[in-house]
Amino acid sequence: MYPPQHVAIIMDGNGRWAQNRGLARHEGHKEGVKTLKKIVKYAVETDISSLTVYAFSTENWKRPKAEVDFLLALMKKTMRNEVKDLLDNGVRINFIGRKNGLSKNLIKEIEHIEIKSKKNKCLTLNIAFNYGGRAEIVDAAKKIFIESQNKGFNIDELDEDLFSSYLYSSDFQDIELLIRTGGDKRLSNFLLWQSAYAELYFTDKYWPDFDAAELDAALEDFRNRERKFGALNDGDKNA
Ligand code: FPP
Repeated sequence: MYPPQHVAIIMDGNGRWAQNRGLARHEGHKEGVKTLKKIVKYAVETDISSLTVYAFSTENWKRPKAEVDFLLALMKKTMRNEVKDLLDNGVRINFIGRKNGLSKNLIKEIEHIEIKSKKNKCLTLNIAFNYGGRAEIVDAAKKIFIESQNKGFNIDELDEDLFSSYLYSSDFQDIELLIRTGGDKRLSNFLLWQSAYAELYFTDKYWPDFDAAELDAALEDFRNRERKFGALNDGDKNA
């Protein structure tokens, strides 16, 4: 089967990776950034056209303040330090998530990199930050409601395609392969709408230990899946 065009990753296990080494949890997040850089570089070499990663969820605000502050600062620092490398590699960066609750500085950094990388075509890296799948669907419903009031929008015209265009990123393709590291087997509110027909791949490896070989294993597993989208297998049609 063809390679997946859009791969999503729940980068889980940074904290445990650090704790297993007697390190503070934030050391795991720092190592997680290094892994992300390697995986982005590798994804550019493959036929994947979009990679979406879960960097900070709307639920992550419930973590201790020191960890939240660390993750926000890490995001800002990573964007600033990596912008050149990402641009040189032809990566387009896009953020999905709620800007509400983020500092003006971070929003400025985010918007700067989105504009600078807009024309890049090798890979689109969507960074889900302050992102929640349910929040995204609620935000889309609100936009549709406001538009229906202001523009006399006919609600009977609302179908799945039109609804999708109100999500955080209107040109966002469905997820074909969703990978979760760290051993848990759940979606944790990630891309609920866009993963409706995603193939799911779980690995026990903690995110800092994930590498190109692991990504290859996930891609190979995907190639062996039979995707049906609710229809029948070819072999079942004559049964
Ligand atoms: C989950 O591991 C990971 C996160 C909440 C943060 C993910 C962030 C990174 C990989 C940093 C890179 C991202 C950017 C773009 C700056 P966890 O803390 O839940 O680990 P645990 O399950 O072992 O506790």
